[in-house]
Amino acid sequence: MKAGASAPGKVILFGEHFVVKGIPALAMAVNLRAEALVEEDQKGCYRVESSVEKGELCGDDPRPEPGAQAYAYLARRAGLKGASIALSSRIPPGAGLGSSAATSAAVAGASLFLVGRRGRELKEEARQLAMEGERVFHGKPSGVDVTVAVEGGLVAYRLPTDYRVLPPPRLEGGVLLLADTGVPRSTREAVMRVLERLERRKPVMETVYEAASVLTREAEKALTEGDLAAVGELMDIAQGLLSSIGVSFPQAEALIHEARRRGALGAKITGAGLGGSVIVLVEEDRAPVVEQALLAKGAVRVLRLSPEPRGLVVEGPL
Ligand code: MEV
Repeated sequence: MKAGASAPGKVILFGEHFVVKGIPALAMAVNLRAEALVEEDQKGCYRVESSVEKGELCGDDPRPEPGAQAYAYLARRAGLKGASIALSSRIPPGAGLGSSAATSAAVAGASLFLVGRRGRELKEEARQLAMEGERVFHGKPSGVDVTVAVEGGLVAYRLPTDYRVLPPPRLEGGVLLLADTGVPRSTREAVMRVLERLERRKPVMETVYEAASVLTREAEKALTEGDLAAVGELMDIAQGLLSSIGVSFPQAEALIHEARRRGALGAKITGAGLGGSVIVLVEEDRAPVVEQALLAKGAVRVLRLSPEPRGLVVEGPL
């Protein structure tokens, strides 16, 4: 039997890194999806293939390596006796858009369908299982990426596992751009560096974390009211906080300053930082100018992001 599933990428609007220590974060599913087609067999091996990677896990192989093997591991953990897994994705990897989380959610969703899970139970188990995939990739993820991949929409997420799915953010009259610096990044390393600074400079860092908590609260209000100027200003403040915890980097700073100089409402790093992408909020009529300016300043790609209401979607049997 075969099943297919897809899940969206995400963009963290507010609260990355702070979320690891229990501060709420706001993340939005975006209109780029990853897909998995899983076919069960009884051969005891789990083969993964996409246009960019291949991997296999057989029998009782120990814990997988990050990459294709991690997806194979999810099919095994779901309870399949063997499987061929075909992956495809429109989410650029390494851009901070949660491509591994979306792929993990899709593989988990299709595999769980094949072992008989349905509905809400399938979604909740897929979230837990996809989190195991993320642990292979990133060490100790907060879970915000996989939660958005499974639920879609706008999610307010707080550890341990408290989350709310909010109405889609109101961005009428504005455009949310993602500009990829092209600088490779490691989420695991960025998270470790932030936690080390938190330990080293505890009293001052704690006040930064407190500010981040208030910021997310204000941002939720601004996003649900559609107050674009406030969202932009809060993004600028968020960038200041991300800089204080040590995850800003020169190529991101250059893009952020250029966007602001060209009239953007606000700009910040999104995701782990020390590489990856920045997001920019800009009024619709300024968007083409800002897009061109970001490319001229060295962005390797600029995408217009729109909210994606659909989270994990499973189709089967195929
Ligand atoms: C990475 O997309 C977001 C971080 O907050 C890490 C996490 O939440 O697991 C940096």
